[in-house]
Amino acid sequence: MTLVKMRDILMKAEQEDYGVGAFSVANMEMVMGAIQAAEELNSPLILQIAEVRLNHSPIHLIGPIMVAAAKKANVPVAVHFDHGLTLEKIKQSLEIGFSSVMFDGSHYSLEENINKTKEVVEIAKSYEATVEAEIGRVGGSEDGTEEIEVLLTSTEEAKRFAKETQIDALAIAIGNAHGMYKGNPNLRLDRLQEINEQVEIPLVLHGGSGISTEDFRSSIQKGIRKINVATATFNRVINQVNKSVEVSPYSDYFTLHQNIIQAAYENVKHHIQIFGSCHKASNEKVHL
Ligand code: 13P
Repeated sequence: MTLVKMRDILMKAEQEDYGVGAFSVANMEMVMGAIQAAEELNSPLILQIAEVRLNHSPIHLIGPIMVAAAKKANVPVAVHFDHGLTLEKIKQSLEIGFSSVMFDGSHYSLEENINKTKEVVEIAKSYEATVEAEIGRVGGSEDGTEEIEVLLTSTEEAKRFAKETQIDALAIAIGNAHGMYKGNPNLRLDRLQEINEQVEIPLVLHGGSGISTEDFRSSIQKGIRKINVATATFNRVINQVNKSVEVSPYSDYFTLHQNIIQAAYENVKHHIQIFGSCHKASNEKVHL
């Protein structure tokens, strides 16, 4: 198994009714931890990084690490460019070998979002890459710098958007938000069900950190196939590092290195078990 198209991972999840975690990474250690968890659970995996994070982890450095790790993995791994904002970075990620890109035009009008997304679909075609796009607006912001209000996805607009853009996966806003939730998230599972009845392509839930096991499972039951998790991994790394320093201060760099891998591994493992993708790695037929 190796680097695969995200659409193949999601189609299999659709046929067999489970969710696949898309885990944001910021360095090699997090990539290693995520792959280790997926291999141990024999699960497909999506590794991703968002455009806003590239000021910390430049794409020309982190990108090749993600692609190389995917190619070497014992399970199917898609490498996804999350929340692409500019054609320049989207193209760069495709050149590096990402098998999937998201164009986030959710801040544009519906017409503009459709037109710009179509442009990305056209570009991605020549790389045979998967395209995800968003309609409605997921709350919070990917790097925590803005307080974006949730704008629920309209079922009619979702239907039109999927049809006109010909994307492979659709990110929807059903009360989900990036970052940790203030209070309990109130997911509109009724809206999710409605959208799922009208839209044929796999649906994506952003803002996975802080959603309960029960809500994850209900969302998957009602049609969510890709679930994005970022903050929970970053927080777990921080907690693990803080805790271990409290017990005994590091005397060498590589203890820190190992702690980052371990924290990413545990968080990814925890989510894969909830999403139901354990032992789903086999029979992924289509490779790049
Ligand atoms: P969280 O940071 O809330 O897990 O959201 C991740 C995400 O949706 C990335 O696109």
